[in-house]
Amino acid sequence: MNFGVAQRLLGVTFLIGSLASICAQTPKLTIDAGTVVTPVSPMLYGLMTEEINHSYDGGLYAEMVDNRTFRAHWEGVGGWSLVRNGNAHASYVIDGASGPSVELPTSMKLTAEAASAGNEAGVSNAGYWGMAVRPHTKYSGSFYAKVGQQNPGTVTAALINNDTGKILAQAQIELTPGPWSRYAYSLATATDVKPSAANHLELTVTKPGTVSLQLVSLFPPTYKDRANGNRADLMELMAAMHPKFLRLPGGNYLEGDLIQDRYDFKKTIGPLVNRAGHQAPWSYWSTDGLGTLEFLNWCEDLKIEPVLAVYAGYALKGAYIHPGKDLEPYVQDALDEVEYVTGGVDTKWGAIRAQNGHPAPFPLHYIEIGNEDMFDKSGSYPARFEQFALALRKKYPQYKLIITAPVEIKNAAAAPDLIDDHYYKSPAEMFDLVHHYDNAPRTGPKIFVGEWATRSGSPTPNFGDALGDAAWMTSMERNSDLILISSYAPMLVNVNPGAMQWSTDLIGFDALRAYASPSYYAQALFAGHVGDGTAKTSITGTSSSDLARFFYSATVSSTQHVLHVKLVNASNHDQPLTLDLTGISARTAKMTTLHAASFQATNSITSPEAIKPIESTLRITPAHTVPAFTIEVIDIPLK
Ligand code: AHR
Repeated sequence: MNFGVAQRLLGVTFLIGSLASICAQTPKLTIDAGTVVTPVSPMLYGLMTEEINHSYDGGLYAEMVDNRTFRAHWEGVGGWSLVRNGNAHASYVIDGASGPSVELPTSMKLTAEAASAGNEAGVSNAGYWGMAVRPHTKYSGSFYAKVGQQNPGTVTAALINNDTGKILAQAQIELTPGPWSRYAYSLATATDVKPSAANHLELTVTKPGTVSLQLVSLFPPTYKDRANGNRADLMELMAAMHPKFLRLPGGNYLEGDLIQDRYDFKKTIGPLVNRAGHQAPWSYWSTDGLGTLEFLNWCEDLKIEPVLAVYAGYALKGAYIHPGKDLEPYVQDALDEVEYVTGGVDTKWGAIRAQNGHPAPFPLHYIEIGNEDMFDKSGSYPARFEQFALALRKKYPQYKLIITAPVEIKNAAAAPDLIDDHYYKSPAEMFDLVHHYDNAPRTGPKIFVGEWATRSGSPTPNFGDALGDAAWMTSMERNSDLILISSYAPMLVNVNPGAMQWSTDLIGFDALRAYASPSYYAQALFAGHVGDGTAKTSITGTSSSDLARFFYSATVSSTQHVLHVKLVNASNHDQPLTLDLTGISARTAKMTTLHAASFQATNSITSPEAIKPIESTLRITPAHTVPAFTIEVIDIPLK
């Protein structure tokens, strides 16, 4: 044989041989869309937030004025400065003896000894890392005031740009002598105003006199135009996550460092002037402007329901209420809170809710008793849980009760319906956790994964985290006969220096802007494309270690008649697959892809869309390759 021919033949043989070995190694993913093996919970994906990272004050709660109640400490009155234009003479003190309510017993007393037009005296507020001002926008303001012996007459409220000093909007408010009164004002910007966060609010006078101020407020237009409402951009991002519930009010925020700092729902409702606020556990003060009714309105605006966590008598620094007599008032508070959420107007707390502005009750299915009570080393949780559970179950047998630690509840009448498991993991740990529930017993309580996140990026997750989260979500979907509800945590972070207490949060924002992290997009995709049952699946043809960083889920929507396939390749190699689909006649499918070049790739406030979902049409063929570092969500019509 001619050597050249022999060599060519050998080459062909070699090529055929290696193709065969590639085919042998190609995993075959079999999905039988006609066979549903387990149900997927209709409430699998929800939201969880708390007052952390300035999620509410300086975040979702749209109030623009920082420290609107003039809380003072040795460093001064945070957020506020004196304005003395030209040759104005003025000073202020925090007056501990005068305020508009029992809950706000102090005020800022401003004394202008000399003030005139061009020589204004007053106070300015810097906002929460600035104040977002946009063109052609109306801002709604208010304050409480009481004039002293000499009435300075008129207060001018103005939004002023920090860089140019230009007045962007202003209003005059006439003061009237007498007791404390609430004054409302509005500030409207012109169409040529440039959107910016570098702005502040000034309240000034042009005549000598004394005025005491309290609860100085300014709101932009809010989501669904709610008074005392939420930022529209953040609400829109949440709505696009397709959530089914909101776990509220925390997290550690429910508990507080000390018992006196717990989330006491009764102190968070009613007029703002009757809300003192409280010390939140994440190192700053909460105004409670976003209180229980605002949480519920938030649910209503997103067409979701609360998963209501009730305070269960444990504080983060270790104090606890002894079960029995001492705990009874706290159990009563929980019963009252449930009545506030769900009671008719003929009930005491339902009537209070109506008086607060919402006569209709809110929907509810789940009540959580405490938060992370495994940290209570006193051993009091089983008895505390039991006392709450028995009382709640007696009055409200229709609701599912959630326990927060794996403790034994001996009294069957108090047995929990769900247990809240929390997972904060690195990407590698999350990949390794993916089969955790596959063989878990189905006989005990169901699971609420009330906090979960893959954590390495900061302030928001990077693409490696998104891959970990996507892998985890395939696992939750596969095990959703057991995992009924789940919520990523924390959800929000103000990205300004000093605002964050917890790194790796789903959505970042500053006063003006908000952005979605890669993990946000992964979650929005998963929750927006999930069926009501898992299809029968199997994967064969390769060793499990080869597929250690490949994950999938297949769910069928019986109402939309769609098979939702999620493929997650968290490895740096492309993953060829043979797709063996049964019960499918469609030739094409809608595919949404989330991809990045590395684990470290990410989005940020200045580069918000570096990574985002890309939609395409997929021709359905058996040979399918999922590129390295890629999440694919494929919707295949079943009819
Ligand atoms: O999500 C941040 C914190 O993590 C929550 O407040 C707490 O429940 C958990 O330890």
